[in-house]
Amino acid sequence: MIKMDKFIINGGNQLNGSVRIGGAKNAVLPIMACTLLADGTYSITNVPDLRDVRTMKKLLESIGAGVETDGGTLTVNTRNCVNYEAPYDLVKTMRASIYVLGPLISRFGYAKVSLPGGCAWGPRPVNLHIEGLRKMGARIAIENGYIIARADTLKGAHISFDLPSVGATGNLMMAAALAEGTTVLENAAREPEITATAQFLTSMGARIEGTGTDHLVIRGVPSLHPADTLIIPDRIEAGTFMVAAHMTGGEVVLEHAEPAHLAAVIDKIEESGARVTIEDRRITVASDGVVSPVNITTAVYPGFPTDMQAQWMSLMSVAGGSSVLTDTIYPDRFTHVAELRRFGADITLDHNVAIVKGVAALSGAPVMSTDLRASASLIIAGLVARGQTDVSRIYHIDRGYEHIEKKLGALGADIRRELETLIT
Ligand code: UD1
Repeated sequence: MIKMDKFIINGGNQLNGSVRIGGAKNAVLPIMACTLLADGTYSITNVPDLRDVRTMKKLLESIGAGVETDGGTLTVNTRNCVNYEAPYDLVKTMRASIYVLGPLISRFGYAKVSLPGGCAWGPRPVNLHIEGLRKMGARIAIENGYIIARADTLKGAHISFDLPSVGATGNLMMAAALAEGTTVLENAAREPEITATAQFLTSMGARIEGTGTDHLVIRGVPSLHPADTLIIPDRIEAGTFMVAAHMTGGEVVLEHAEPAHLAAVIDKIEESGARVTIEDRRITVASDGVVSPVNITTAVYPGFPTDMQAQWMSLMSVAGGSSVLTDTIYPDRFTHVAELRRFGADITLDHNVAIVKGVAALSGAPVMSTDLRASASLIIAGLVARGQTDVSRIYHIDRGYEHIEKKLGALGADIRRELETLIT
C-alpha cells in the first residue's frame, strides 16, 4: 500500500492578509554545500523548512558532517567529513545534490556523485559542471551511473559557458575557491542565489571579483574558514503568492521579501492589472481579480524566471484574452499544461510556446503534481476554480514550498492536507 499526501482545495476564496516569505531554497542548498570547503562550525539562519533542505542535510551527514536544526537555524559541523560520496538514493530525489561535487573534489581530491537523471519534464544535463572541472585538471569518469572525479590539485582555468547555468556556476565557483591560481567564469549565471553563494564564499575567505555579474574571477586561496550567514528571501515563493493574490482578487502583504529580486515578475503582474506597492522588504499586491493577458518569455536573471512560468500560466488561464508564454530556459517544462486543461483551461502548446486563451472560470478537478513548480500552478488554479480540486502527489511541492497550505490557509484559502492511499 502506498500512501501519499494530497491537497483538497475548495476554490473561490479571496486571499487577504500578510504572509512571511521564507529563505530561498536555491540559495540555502549551495550554501550548505559550501560548508564542505573548510572544517568547522557554521550557523545558517532563515533556513526554510523544506524537503530539499532535509535531503541536503542527509547528504552532508552521509559525508560525515553533523547538522543540527533549531527552528530556522542550521548548525553545520564539518570536522569529520570522510566519505566523499553523494549516493543515488539522495541525488534521485534532489538534483541539487550535485552541488557537493565541486567542494568535495576541490577539498579532498576525490568525489563520487550519482549522475542526476532527467526531470519529470525533460533532460537536465550536467555537462557544463563536468567540462569545467576537467578544464581545472580533474580526471572524471562516468561509471555505473556515478561521476567519479579525481584530482591531485585543481588548477585555475578560463571557462566560458555556452549558456549561463546556475548549477555549473555555483559548482565551479566553489571548486575554484580552493584551486591553485585564478579561474575566470565567463557568461556565468548571476541569479541572486548565485550572488548569495559568492558572498558566503567571500565571507569564508574566498577571493571572488565580479560578484553579481556574469564575469567572475576567482583567485584560489590555500584554505577557507567557517562563516555564518542569513539566507535571502525566496523570490519564487514570493512570486507564487503574488500571482495567487492577483488571481483571487485579494490584497496580500508579503513580509520579508526582496523586491529587487522580483523586478521582472512585478512588472508583469502590474501589466496584468494588479497594484503593487513596495516598502522596504514588504510587497503589497492588491487586485480586483480582473486579469489582463500578458505575454512572458523566460530568461536568465534578471529576466522572467522559468520557475514562475507554470504559475503564470494558471494566471493567464483566467485572463480576459490570449497570451503567449515561451520558455527559453527549459523548452520541455510544460507537464502542467495537460493538468491545467483538466480545470477547463484553454492552452495550445507548440514546442516551447504555449498560447493561453483566458476562460471565464476554471472548474475544480482531480489533478496530479508532476514537479515542484507545476504543483504550485495547480494549487493556485484550484484556489480560483469553482468547486473542489484534489491535488495528488504533493511531495513535489514540499520540496520547495514551506507549509504552503498553512500559509495559504492563514490568508483565507480553503485548503487542507489529507493522506491518500494510492495503491492497495
Ligand atoms: C537552477 C534552479 C532551478 C531553475 C534553474 C534555471 C537550483 C537548485 N535550481 O537549476 O530552480 O529552474 O536554475 O533558473 O538552483 N544546462 C546544460 N548543461 C549543464 C547545466 C545546464 O545544458 O551542465 C542547461 C539546462 O538544460 C537548462 C539551462 O542550462 O536549459 C539552465 O540550467 P541551470 O541554470 O543549470 O539549472 P539548474 O542549476 O539545474
